[in-house]
Amino acid sequence: MAKRIFIRTIGSYLPERVLTNGDLEKIVSTSDEWIVTRTGIRERHIAADGQTTSDMAAEAARAALATGEMNIVDIDAIIVATVVPDMPFPSTACFLQQKLGARNCPCIGIEVGCSGIIYMAEIAAGFLERGQHSAILAVAADKLSAVTDWTDRSTCVILADGAAAMVFSGEESGAIAEFLGSYISADGSGAEHLCMPGGGCRNPATEKTVTDRLHYLKMNGREVFKRAVRDMATAVQKVLERFAIDSSSIAHFIPHQANMRIIEAVAEFLNVPVERFVTVLDHTGNTSSASLGIAMDEASRAGRFKKGDLVMPVSFGAGLTSGAALLRWLK
Ligand code: COA
Repeated sequence: MAKRIFIRTIGSYLPERVLTNGDLEKIVSTSDEWIVTRTGIRERHIAADGQTTSDMAAEAARAALATGEMNIVDIDAIIVATVVPDMPFPSTACFLQQKLGARNCPCIGIEVGCSGIIYMAEIAAGFLERGQHSAILAVAADKLSAVTDWTDRSTCVILADGAAAMVFSGEESGAIAEFLGSYISADGSGAEHLCMPGGGCRNPATEKTVTDRLHYLKMNGREVFKRAVRDMATAVQKVLERFAIDSSSIAHFIPHQANMRIIEAVAEFLNVPVERFVTVLDHTGNTSSASLGIAMDEASRAGRFKKGDLVMPVSFGAGLTSGAALLRWLK
């Protein structure tokens, strides 16, 4: 029989500085009305100038460890999902390890955009099933503001900073949820629709790449929108099929928080009332890989999940990657 996998604890972090739609009206040609009706976002959090992705990851990890009454010495592997690493190398997971004072554990970095948490769940489950690790810290963090083009109104109004952390373990005792399984996928044919073209070996940093603004996140918003709806709905259906259940069995969907219209379209496609989708994007914006973890943490703290609830996180991100997972809430 396959080993059972649990989420022991969750935590999240949003930087102190708040940027409202009104603040953005002073930076680019936009309006609160446009942003709210086209995206559902009212405000977002932006990291301090010197604050790094690993700083935010450490805050979320400490919050998760405190909530789960765990100590860093309990952790025997670290995974970090980010597309805005502290440096191109070494892995941000190693900087996080340094900040948390964790010792002698493997550190893994993955770059799957906003699908980070679902991919990390799948990787953590594989590690735990092999039986050589017992508690895996998985942290999703992105300082998107560092790669945001503050002159591009189609991206700067949605992007934001934040981090979320979870600990996966093989022990039911003290766990908040059981991880029942997941589906992950990618469609590299759409890779250029959401990318940062500069800084890698295709366009190494030069004066020209800076002048051409290649070190900023570029997005083909309409194409990403269409694919997000299609691929998130597909990911949900794959998991429902695998477990032979239908969407009415799911008490709460936790979607990637990109745009309220994307979430509404996925809900409509699945014929599920949108009220069953947890949303926090009105005050967080799109926090990339951390977004559904922040939503899950806030909903959990608000007491929205009940013991026995089936909960389904679903994501879509750069790559273009997608995925969904099935959890049973235990507390
Ligand atoms: N304020 C005012 N007008 C804006 C604007 C802004 N912030 N951003 C774009 N516009 C304008 C455009 O210039 C365009 O004007 P035009 O018709 O005169 O050319 C008009 O609004 C419509 O642009 P469009 O790109 O079609 O808007 P949209 O309804 O698709 O919304 C996004 C744009 C980016 C919000 C939307 O495409 C989106 O959410 N895409 C997916 C984003 C996402 O999920 N990203 C992350 C995935 S992990």
